[in-house]
Amino acid sequence: MERDVVKNTDALIGIQSLPDNSIDLIIADPPYGLGKDYGNDSDKKPAREFLEWMERWLLLVIPKLKDSGSLYIFTTWRYSPEIFVFLKKHMIMLNEIIWDRKVPSMGGTTRKYSSVHDTIGFFAKTDKHYFDLDSIRIPYDPETKKARSRSIFVGKKWLEVGYNPKDLWSVSRLHRIHAEREDHPTQKPLEIIKRMVLASCPPEGLVLDPFAGTGPTVEACIKTDRHFIAFEINGKYFEIIESRAERAKSEKATLIDFSSAPSARTQSARQPVPVQAKLF
Ligand SMILES: C[S@@+](CC[C@H](N)C(=O)[O-])C[C@H]1O[C@@H](n2cnc3c(N)ncnc32)[C@H](O)[C@@H]1O
Repeated sequence: MERDVVKNTDALIGIQSLPDNSIDLIIADPPYGLGKDYGNDSDKKPAREFLEWMERWLLLVIPKLKDSGSLYIFTTWRYSPEIFVFLKKHMIMLNEIIWDRKVPSMGGTTRKYSSVHDTIGFFAKTDKHYFDLDSIRIPYDPETKKARSRSIFVGKKWLEVGYNPKDLWSVSRLHRIHAEREDHPTQKPLEIIKRMVLASCPPEGLVLDPFAGTGPTVEACIKTDRHFIAFEINGKYFEIIESRAERAKSEKATLIDFSSAPSARTQSARQPVPVQAKLF
């Protein structure tokens, strides 16, 4: 099976080309059904059509997961109830993660509360799912650590190596001043995607992103030594992913090794690739 490849294709076609039980982790950030402009009509379906489409690709993708595999799916309060009820018939729900986008307080909706979060469903295929807590622990700052100096805390692992991230993730949405920001209406911060990859895909494992957008999953995989397969239907975003992946590879090479011989991954980039697909 091809790995480390990004394809400019419809996810529903791409998913069907993958073997069953081959993927360690799916990070899915599909259109939200909220009418966003992705340069196509993909987010402009009426509610019923949108939900039917969601169920269609979810039913195609779940069998592609290994038994140890898991799925993160980005959604919003508007459709998360329907999507989660559907997914719970096919998978084990592990968490509802709230991504607090740290939206500044500036007026907002006047006849209800302002919505400032995304809802992320975290599901496992079986109860044998992979989860590496140690890779994502959050270290205590010295002051907090000192405040936990009561004898009952001494020697506790969580105090030494950091605590388990909770299901509320407060990470600023991307603004123009952020270096990673690309021209895309719903780009996700690398920090969030990297946490998912580290926790839920073993080193050298395989991550699938069916709706890759600007490619944070591709960058996270390159930088953490995981393999990836990504699909994106919009040619402009596909090009953004291509250059982002090249940048990520050279940043990683600079950080890690100035002198290494060409790797298997670099060599595969020299092989002929199908039109509108790019191997990394
Ligand atoms: C919510 S965005 C993903 C953003 C991405 N996670 C990021 O951080 O940049 C959804 C993406 O799915 C793409 N898309 C929509 N329908 C698609 C389809 N059928 N197959 C593949 N990609 C699709 C859109 O062009 C859009 O870039």
